Amino acid sequence: MHIAILYNRDHEQLEDDPGREARADVTRVASALAEALAQEGTRVDPVAVEGSRLEFVDVLARLRPDLVINLCESVAADSRAETVVPCLLDMLGLPYTGSSALTLGLALHKDKAKELLRARGVPTPGFARVDRLEDLEGLELPFPLIVKPAREDASMGITRDSVVHDPAALRQAVALVLKTFHQPAIVEQFIPGREIYVPLLGNTPRQALPLTEIRFGRLFDDRPNIVTYSGKWETGSPEYTNTPSAPCLLEDATLEARLVKTAMEAFSALDGQDYGRVDLRVTPEGMPYVIDINPNCDLHPEAGFAKAALSAGMDYRALARKLVEVALERTHGHPTPRRKGSGVARLPDPSNRNVLHGGKGLRGRTRRSRAAAE
Ligand SMILES: Nc1ncnc2c1ncn2[C@@H]1O[C@H](COP(=O)(O)OP(=O)(O)O)[C@@H](O)[C@H]1O
Ligand SMILES: [Mg+2]
Repeated sequence: MHIAILYNRDHEQLEDDPGREARADVTRVASALAEALAQEGTRVDPVAVEGSRLEFVDVLARLRPDLVINLCESVAADSRAETVVPCLLDMLGLPYTGSSALTLGLALHKDKAKELLRARGVPTPGFARVDRLEDLEGLELPFPLIVKPAREDASMGITRDSVVHDPAALRQAVALVLKTFHQPAIVEQFIPGREIYVPLLGNTPRQALPLTEIRFGRLFDDRPNIVTYSGKWETGSPEYTNTPSAPCLLEDATLEARLVKTAMEAFSALDGQDYGRVDLRVTPEGMPYVIDINPNCDLHPEAGFAKAALSAGMDYRALARKLVEVALERTHGHPTPRRKGSGVARLPDPSNRNVLHGGKGLRGRTRRSRAAAE
């Protein structure tokens, strides 16, 4: 088995990068997974996407691995470019772990993702997308509200000032997002209550790993209970030490089932695949709201997903192997119907193939459509 681990190495690219720590984390995940997968009979090649250079495409075309573990969360320190990577892998005809470009793109267009959730009846807080400050006139959402960049993840741009209680603070928070991130802001109803994460693994079937929860410490007694960028990434900061993630123990089995069902529906609404994490806020009355869908979520051994897998009895090596297995199974079909013997081609399951393979799909389609037009 030959595996390439594709990851972005762009955390030192910008002098003033509001997402530097999150990007640096990807490099560590790549090393951890390479180590976890190293065993006899498996060749693992880490391949970095450096800045906006496309050398990695040639490297992968030459290596032609059996599978690419796609950890790319940005290209050239721009989160919005992460969608490019699965497109290129599709063109190369290489199977990869995690979600397609469509899913990654939807998750990074929070307004579109929320429209899909709404259309499917999955609860998500009321919201508006704000492209310019004038859009705030006539906004009909009740305070308190939270303001986030519409095209980022990893809590980028989230500070205690993101939660606002009056029009002046709202305007200020929106102006800051527009200026810093050069993208629209999402203004969303603030949901008080617990913050619970549902890690999902596999396709058919898809399983929920044990739920985790953010335990807001005393620092948050006099400020909104949210996971800010510092709280998520700046180890040693008071916000970080006051937002540990812990196993979520729910006495109410019906509530737990409801949270899992909501998370599964949200992930399916975006056509997520292989693994991901759906983040919920749950009101004191027990009403869940989906606030964030994270396809290709953080796989660091100390992050929530790996910890949840561990509490389900899957250590990091087992999790790494499972990720490879679910991606190969989705691409080629379940291994049991395969004939035995090395070199025997696996049966592709056409419904689960990536969009293109080996370029043939694209050429074939072009020819057909030309023929149809003639
Ligand atoms: N509607 C909301 N109500 C309450 N808290 C929220 C809401 N939306 C976001 N938050 C808080 O802000 C954090 C980051 O928001 P999130 O939507 O997860 O953005 P990102 O995609 O950057 O991770 C969440 O972990 C949560 O603590
Ligand atoms: Mg989030």
